[in-house]
Amino acid sequence: MNDMYAQRRLRLADHLGAGVAVLATAPEAVRNRDSHYPYRYDSYFYYLTGFVEPEAVLVLVGGVAPKGLLFCRARDPEREVWDGYRHGPQGAQEKFGFDAAYPIAELDARLPELLADQPRLAYAVGHDAAWDARVLGWLNAVRAKARSGVAAPQEIVDVRLWLDDLRLIKDAHELAVMQRAADISSDAHRRAMRAAHPGRYEYEIEAELLHAFVSAGARQPAYTSIVAGGAHACVLHYVENNAPLKDGDLLLIDAGGELDGYASDITRTFPVNGRFSGPQKAVYEIVLEAQARAIAAVQPGALWNAPHEAALAVLTQGLKDLGILQGELSGLLEQEAYKPYYMHRTGHWLGLDVHDAGEYKRAGAWRELVPGMVLTVEPGLYLRPSESLPQPYWNIGIRIEDDVAVTAGGQHVLTSPPKTVVDIEAWMRG
Ligand code: GLY
Ligand code: MN
Ligand code: MN
Repeated sequence: MNDMYAQRRLRLADHLGAGVAVLATAPEAVRNRDSHYPYRYDSYFYYLTGFVEPEAVLVLVGGVAPKGLLFCRARDPEREVWDGYRHGPQGAQEKFGFDAAYPIAELDARLPELLADQPRLAYAVGHDAAWDARVLGWLNAVRAKARSGVAAPQEIVDVRLWLDDLRLIKDAHELAVMQRAADISSDAHRRAMRAAHPGRYEYEIEAELLHAFVSAGARQPAYTSIVAGGAHACVLHYVENNAPLKDGDLLLIDAGGELDGYASDITRTFPVNGRFSGPQKAVYEIVLEAQARAIAAVQPGALWNAPHEAALAVLTQGLKDLGILQGELSGLLEQEAYKPYYMHRTGHWLGLDVHDAGEYKRAGAWRELVPGMVLTVEPGLYLRPSESLPQPYWNIGIRIEDDVAVTAGGQHVLTSPPKTVVDIEAWMRG
């Protein structure tokens, strides 16, 4: 396991060449007064270390024999009585395989020495203003020694550019964790579907999701769960989750658990009473077909935008078939006539962050899909009341979202809750 992180550091060192990379983990975040949000480490830092304590910094010294140094909290018997175990530098070095480790309190004293005569400094430039100022402080401390013949790095680069590329292609370990996160989250959606009934509250269904995540070891959701009954489904980031579910409405749930840092991201939309109405079914089948075509477009060598384009063609044709749009398909696509009903893109990279690291375009062109990439495929239709829309479709909001890995032979769908009309209705009957 430690080898895995050490190997990732070596791959970063290949990009770095001669120089020093500095990566800090995330700060703890105050919720109110002296209560904190549950701690979440920085994804880049975790990717390179596997170390989950707050107040930690990785310093990677590049060159022919790269070295990974950790700065972390010192052991403190009194604090550990209150807040729990700390590895301390020595423990962290042994357990996590760093070349050396130091107390975090020594960071400002040691960095100027580590940066002396190095040509290049890589860090997350501009991510945090206080951290930028601290880095400038180290550089100035090196420059202050210029008369003793020491030179400061001439070049500052954003370390995230390289790390985004590394994180974009998931290794076997990452794919296995993501499959498990997807399995846990799929179970949570199955449980939520069974729990939904007219008169229950959206937050009761949210509680079912959280129960399923946490009891399977996914201690945090990967993002705030969206549990959106009826018209709420047309609010893309609805998170109030506090209304009663109504007979005859759909329920859209967008929720996924985080396991060992890796996100799952699933949306299902189903009838609160277990039976799709005619108009709901008509719209649902369009979104389902759009999703099937988009998933089929996930292929090695295909461009990033191919699934989106496949979904747009089906959704636009479907809106035409429902009588909501009129005109030639090609013209409607050209004019983006679908935009009032489908205003988001069909997916995003998925990994340690739910909207994961990695560029979508390179030199102005959509990126090619490569085995090991993981993305979501999540078309939808959101039919808010309007004069141009036949009334039976008002307030129908549907999204269907799965997590998909690009494989050598095509694609593998990681997520599995029921999604055809027949399967959803059968599952809800129990
Ligand atoms: N749940 C966030 C998204 O679907 O992008
Ligand atoms: Mn998503
Ligand atoms: Mn989602």
